[in-house]
Amino acid sequence: MASTHDQLEAGGWAGAAWWVIVFTALTVLFIKYVICIILEAIWWKPMRIVRKMQSQGIKARPYQLLGGDFPEMMKLVKAAQSETMTTISHDIVPRILPCLGPWCASLGTSHVFWQGTAAPTLTVMDPEMVKDIMSTKSSCFHRASLEKKVLLEFIGKNILTIEDDEWTHHRRIINSTFNIEKLKGMLGAMVTSTDKMIKRWATVDQLQEDSCFEVEVCEEFYKLAMDIFSRTSFGNAHKQSKKFGRFQVELKKLVMSPSHLVWTIVIPGYRILPTPNNRHINRIKRNMNRILDEIIRVRLQRAESGKLRDYGNDLLGCLLYESEAGDHETKGRKKLSINDVIHECHALLFAGHDSTANLLTWTIMLLSLHPQWQERARKEVLEICNGKPIDDEKLRGFKILTMILQEVLRLYPAVADLTRVAVKNTTIQGWSIPEGLQVWVPILQIHRDPEQWGADALEFRPDRFAGGVSKACKNSHSYIPFSCGQRTCVGQTFAMMEAKVALSMILQRFSFQLSSKYKHGPTTKGALHPEFGMPVIFHKLTSFENKD
Ligand code: HEM
Repeated sequence: MASTHDQLEAGGWAGAAWWVIVFTALTVLFIKYVICIILEAIWWKPMRIVRKMQSQGIKARPYQLLGGDFPEMMKLVKAAQSETMTTISHDIVPRILPCLGPWCASLGTSHVFWQGTAAPTLTVMDPEMVKDIMSTKSSCFHRASLEKKVLLEFIGKNILTIEDDEWTHHRRIINSTFNIEKLKGMLGAMVTSTDKMIKRWATVDQLQEDSCFEVEVCEEFYKLAMDIFSRTSFGNAHKQSKKFGRFQVELKKLVMSPSHLVWTIVIPGYRILPTPNNRHINRIKRNMNRILDEIIRVRLQRAESGKLRDYGNDLLGCLLYESEAGDHETKGRKKLSINDVIHECHALLFAGHDSTANLLTWTIMLLSLHPQWQERARKEVLEICNGKPIDDEKLRGFKILTMILQEVLRLYPAVADLTRVAVKNTTIQGWSIPEGLQVWVPILQIHRDPEQWGADALEFRPDRFAGGVSKACKNSHSYIPFSCGQRTCVGQTFAMMEAKVALSMILQRFSFQLSSKYKHGPTTKGALHPEFGMPVIFHKLTSFENKD
């Protein structure tokens, strides 16, 4: 007969075995559950989405699990951009978006491709569909998750990366910092920065005997745009803030480098690994935040000690006024935190710096290639300014210059394409769009569609804008250099003002032509820009010298 001790031991073993069975069953269930979640995310759901699109007659590229079509796209871009173009042609879609032509030819204009793992993406070129995505049904679409992930890592949580109510709140505040009265107040800073740049060129001029000299305008316009951003955003602290800007340029190169992008896409959590690149990125971010913290601390102290009546009229001052530091009544509206202010400064510099610099660069290229338009623009500027300083009213009078800038933005828009993701099931123009489907809008191609723009779509013809955008193309949603709808560019008036100030001051003083060293090679590592720079020969105009 078993002793009490033996009975207890047998009971203990039975209990333990029972627990082992329960634990094993739960572990198996848990593993199955995790596997199902992963399969749902990377296989079942994307395949369901594609089947839904195929059932509506849309063809799709076959699914590659690792990275989707991304590796193929990178390979084609590398091949297309490995050499300069033999002629200065504006037919740059095969170079910038090399997949588009072949995929449209084999699958149709609206087709599905894979913009990364589990990212089925519908190509959208129909202007009415663009209108639905960006305006009419914009609440059904968010910024695509990969783009958001890269931007979040790069510039943090701000207007570019937030959605819904939080975005509405930030957008309202930022809109108010760009209202027309505030912009008029920034005109002086734009003139000062451009004047500084031109005086720097004049020093080069003095070294030359025939009063013509060569300038790498790409570099110069990056510096100009940074100087204008620093003055209009940070007023007195503009020298300090330029350091912040230089760090952001360095950061952009690191974060946007193809190898970093590939690792970020392929390995979840890659950013927290202590790789040399990641450590470098973190160091730069710390330095940038330190600079902004210091600028804000000084600004707040000065406001408290009464040296400034408020926080100032520059962009930072406007954001601080709307932050928890501002002591005005907000009628229940939430205020920005100081951290929000810092992140919005990152966003504005990121979105506004190279986009505007490149608008100027491409304009100089196109006016060099079309001297008759350069002459027409100069004539207009000289007539309106007549040697007097530029003001808001004169800017509004520049009709030819406006048409030229519109045409430059059509042929060389800073943002070549946009991606959104459907966050709920919806319909656009009769198509059923399932939640999770991405939509890709190739702005560069839409701006060249002969159906919309006519047979001369690849030519530089500013006069097509003489009657405004609505007369220039069949459907005004075929012209979206600043995007459109709710999330249209918040800085577009600022950018156009900056471009007009700089160009009008340059046109009055110099004529220009492309240097024979120029090699045509547009690329999109960041904004659409000339990969091999843009050397330009400037000739001093004697007429302006006399007026000086
Ligand atoms: C020629 C110059 C510029 C061009 C072509 C341009 C183009 C664009 C485009 C296409 C978008 C939409 C991006 C998207 O939805 O993914 C955008 C958004 C934005 N831009 Fe610009 N931009 C320019 C200058 C500026 C400037 C100077 C600033 C500010 C100083 C600025 C600030 C912004 C911001 C904050 C957004 C995000 C708006 C939102 O999501 O609500 N941009 N821009």
